[in-house]
Amino acid sequence: MARRIIRELAAKIFKGESYRILNSIDIIGDIAIIKAEEIDEKALNIFGEALIKELKYIKTVLRQITPVSGEYRIRRFKYIAGEDKRETIYKEHGIRIKVDVEKVYFTPRLSTERKRIMEQVSQGESVCNMFAGAGPYTILIAKYRNPRIVHSIDINKYAIDYHLENNYLNKFEDKIILYRGDAAQMVEKYIVNKVDRVLMPLPEKALTYLEYALKALKDTGYIHIYLHVKYSQDWRESLVKASEIVRNTLTEKCKIISLTPHKVREVGPRTMQVCVDTYIKKL
Ligand SMILES: C[S@@+](CC[C@H](N)C(=O)[O-])C[C@H]1O[C@@H](n2cnc3c(N)ncnc32)[C@H](O)[C@@H]1O
Repeated sequence: MARRIIRELAAKIFKGESYRILNSIDIIGDIAIIKAEEIDEKALNIFGEALIKELKYIKTVLRQITPVSGEYRIRRFKYIAGEDKRETIYKEHGIRIKVDVEKVYFTPRLSTERKRIMEQVSQGESVCNMFAGAGPYTILIAKYRNPRIVHSIDINKYAIDYHLENNYLNKFEDKIILYRGDAAQMVEKYIVNKVDRVLMPLPEKALTYLEYALKALKDTGYIHIYLHVKYSQDWRESLVKASEIVRNTLTEKCKIISLTPHKVREVGPRTMQVCVDTYIKKL
């Protein structure tokens, strides 16, 4: 229904360019974010106003004006229509995530992937999420898998502030330990040999932080390693490449019991986000 309305409005306002809007619109709670560089600002304002009028649950329309960047992986927005705000509450799979979209990384495009990871966690596991953001993976695991504990780390103060609020919002404050700081340092200090599973949802740092994921694990355990991988013809090449990269990085550091690459999403021209699920035994 919402998709149909968006499609119709875009076709009416942008005509032949409407596909740009349709490919680039994300709805996070009551905020619609449009990432379409070539689109004319005036037309975008008209579209924003129409969107708010037609879809009552959308209160704000923003245009993304920078790519996701920097250590905190955040982006800047320009106000387009509705209420001028950046904070919202996003709902997925029965949890609620409050977030300021300009201060903390968040994307609804990982919703299926978060569920896929959550479903692999067994009851009673201890988990470490090295790059937790406002907590979507962590809280999903806490809600559905009855873990012993989830250690959730992020270097961005705002991410941890929202994560804490989200723990209370979802009533999981007793299952989650939060750490504000660098994941390598937090693992070294507090999480050595402690967990059954490590999540590394930060492609830019996953490989360099892999040794700390190994440190956090008990004797055997799972690591979910996210990478951005280029391919030339067929996206399946990215799965093969990702497996090779992880295998080469882990060889000599541990015994690889299993290694399975999984396609997450296309993140750029011929660039795939891949999650390599590994099960390892320490040497
Ligand atoms: C791509 S975001 C993923 C956030 C979250 N997992 C999600 O899916 O919404 C990566 C997160 O890693 C954090 N980060 C970057 N460098 C870090 C580091 N060295 N140690 C801990 N967290 C870090 C960023 O602040 C950001 O919130």
